[in-house]
Amino acid sequence: MTATVAVGLGERAYEVLIGPGLLDQAGERIAPLLKRARVAVVSDETVWGLHGARLSAAFERAAIAVLPIVVTPGEQTKSFAGLAELIDRLLALELDRGDLITAFGGGVVGDLAGFAAAIFKRGIDVVQIPTTLLAQVDSSVGGKTAIDTPRGKNLVGAFHQPRLVLADLDVLATLPDREMRAGYAEVIKYGLLGDLKFFEWLEAHGAQVLAREPAALARAVARCVEMKAEIVAQDETEQGRRALLNLGHTFGHALESETGHSQALLHGEAVAAGQALAFRFAAAQGFCATGEARRATDAIAAAGLPTGLSQVPGHPFAADRLVRHMAQDKKAEGGKLTFILARGLGRAFVAKDVDAGAVTAFLLTEGAC
Ligand code: NAD
Ligand code: GLY
Repeated sequence: MTATVAVGLGERAYEVLIGPGLLDQAGERIAPLLKRARVAVVSDETVWGLHGARLSAAFERAAIAVLPIVVTPGEQTKSFAGLAELIDRLLALELDRGDLITAFGGGVVGDLAGFAAAIFKRGIDVVQIPTTLLAQVDSSVGGKTAIDTPRGKNLVGAFHQPRLVLADLDVLATLPDREMRAGYAEVIKYGLLGDLKFFEWLEAHGAQVLAREPAALARAVARCVEMKAEIVAQDETEQGRRALLNLGHTFGHALESETGHSQALLHGEAVAAGQALAFRFAAAQGFCATGEARRATDAIAAAGLPTGLSQVPGHPFAADRLVRHMAQDKKAEGGKLTFILARGLGRAFVAKDVDAGAVTAFLLTEGAC
């Protein structure tokens, strides 16, 4: 069964298809978007090795030539150097503005290939085929594309909506458990930020989602995509409500900066710890009941994800260094810190003008030094 979620963005509207077996339908689904019967596929070595043959076969059945560009897996590829290399390879393939790039991989490939598509010859179309849980529920939808710089994550990028997203749930079968849990951090984010019922469903069924039980997985991915589509359609360029999707990210990005964006702490793991910290900080500031912050923390812990500083490699962290990372974050405006906090489960809000001193004091109570 394929679920279809529409992202209502007027002339840039598109569909997100969610279900098993979609990789095998990629040729017929993408063919109507092509001017020429060829497609550049950007993937990473791991994804291409595991699933490239299936995708290629699907394109070949639709008489579409595949031009694969296979990059090194990992966050370090989402860099100026990685972008320069990718653009050079696209130019070498003599792609032009009538062609289309397919981003086939996790959030790293999606963000990098999406950004390359945004700027290649002033912009060409991109289709996202996300292969991690994180990418299926978050990064492939909504058009945010970016690379990192040594000064921080996602600091250079563009909004460039895909023409289509194909989220094939079957490909998640090969995803390592740790990556599955990291993606689940973004799943739980949707419940925590805006849907108490979904959060409660995850409290009861999260283990089935993590075990990739087909019905639970399909329901979870579809609900996340529905919520993301609704938010993006309202606030494409993050002037307001879209910022709620950054729940856990201000604390999380600071931790990722401290751990060097390395395998020591995956993005989703940072977001997991960041969400628990955001709920406890909200409770400490009197916005949210302590019991609700504890429930958020417990649900994250139940998924085997970190919920605090002491579970992050490198602990103990210096509170003032963490706050400095937060101040460099692009969500900081006019020297004030912006956080996504919550008034309760499913009730996130954008808190501007958060006092850095209060954050430092809170981090000290959380084990920072
Ligand atoms: P990733 O792309 O690095 O993938 C994680 C690992 O899993 C990689 O080693 C990859 O090769 C492997 N992999 C991918 N699919 C697989 C599969 N089906 N089977 C086996 N292995 C597989 O990481 P990610 O967690 O998908 O994405 C993280 C990135 O996404 C970060 O750079 C983050 O900034 C970005 N992000 C972007 C947005 C957005 O809105 N654009 C939102 C959230 C996160
Ligand atoms: N991942 C946050 C956003 O898409 O806005």
